[in-house]
Amino acid sequence: MRTQVAIIGAGPAGLLLSHLLHLRGVESVVLETRSREYVEKRVRAGVLEYPTTELLREVGLGERMDAEGLVHHGISLRFDGADHRIGFDDLLGKSITVYGQQEVVKDLIAARLRDGGELRFEVSETTVHDVSSDHPRVTFTDAAGVASELVCDVIAGCDGFHGISRPSIPEAVLTGHEHIYPFAWLGILAKAAPVRDELVYTRSERGFTLYSMRSPEITRLYLQVSPDTDLTEWPDDRIWAELHARMAIDGGEQVNEGPLLEKSVTPMRSFVASPMRHGRLFLAGDAAHIVPPTGAKGMNLAIADVKLLAEAFTALLKDNRSELVESYSDTALRRVWRAEHFSWFMTSMLHLDPAADEFQRQLQLSQLRYTASSTAAATSLAENYVGLPFS
Ligand code: FAD
Ligand code: DHB
Repeated sequence: MRTQVAIIGAGPAGLLLSHLLHLRGVESVVLETRSREYVEKRVRAGVLEYPTTELLREVGLGERMDAEGLVHHGISLRFDGADHRIGFDDLLGKSITVYGQQEVVKDLIAARLRDGGELRFEVSETTVHDVSSDHPRVTFTDAAGVASELVCDVIAGCDGFHGISRPSIPEAVLTGHEHIYPFAWLGILAKAAPVRDELVYTRSERGFTLYSMRSPEITRLYLQVSPDTDLTEWPDDRIWAELHARMAIDGGEQVNEGPLLEKSVTPMRSFVASPMRHGRLFLAGDAAHIVPPTGAKGMNLAIADVKLLAEAFTALLKDNRSELVESYSDTALRRVWRAEHFSWFMTSMLHLDPAADEFQRQLQLSQLRYTASSTAAATSLAENYVGLPFS
């Protein structure tokens, strides 16, 4: 089999890259280990930055997002027993949209299939070869168990943090920068009406919580737990009791309780692989970098990477111009490091580090109070949260 771009992974990065290339007349094949049903049901991110929503609309993927997504004009930081609102509309005239990642993935799969795109689900043993030549290859076993080969011009490694693309780059070529946090997030999706219509990030002496939502009937909540958390130690009533205790403020409303539809634990790490390219293999999204989820940046970064990559591949494959593939890694890493800093900043400001002393706790509270009371500090948070322009 032959194509122009072999894409490994059908997450937001791989699927959107395939769609953007199609719009520019470049062929691709997407290889994915999981089933279509699995990737369409995987509950993860929820916040789309302003530039992400504009891009999705521009490329014909905005219809359901605009009908069903929830537009938010601010967030609240809850600390010192009160809510402190950061208004994106007042500060910047911009907004973010809450629309589940799995909905973005469903829209992308529907668009690719409608346009005759080639998506191969349930493949195994994906391996990349000859990335230093002009004709790299990907070998894999297809869903029927048949060994197959895809010859291409370039490979996009969009296979997430645990994929095969990044580890296939020789250690001498790639530097990994990593920071592990001493906590994790326990996330739940509950069939319960949200009690308010904006997100609340709470710093409490019992640990961090995040209040979010997916629809007028579904609430999404996260709470800081230790990284070795065993979910069996967190029956539903313990989760609700802890959420109420952490979010309690004078006169403040409680969260509505309801049956849990999903429950999972996510470790928190920061990671950047540099460079994001080796020969004709290009990394994008979580395959190249991870942020802790506090700033809601992961999926948005994946989308920013593939916007660049689609432009670079088109220039190379249609016009024989290589300068954009040459600059891809440096250009992408600038945005990646900004989001890494913002995600680290939000995480450090809001979580309770079990090893922190009173000095560090006072610094944390001082930063929160400054952010809530200074227009300059609030604008800086808002500008990063809604997403900096793509270029
Ligand atoms: P992935 O979505 O991980 O997709 C990679 C795909 O590759 C997967 O489908 C995988 O099955 C496939 N794959 C893996 N190995 C192979 C292989 N060998 N061969 C073929 N296919 C393979 N981000 C935000 O922007 N906003 C948020 O609000 C937010 N909240 C989050 C909350 C939680 C609890 C979590 C866990 C994450 C959150 N994120 C958020 C991060 C976001 O979900 C990820 O950054 C995003 O999924 C990255 O997309 P991707 O396409 O790069 O990788
Ligand atoms: C959601 C996830 C985040 O990481 C975040 O910062 C905000 C919202 C969510 O899943 O709704």
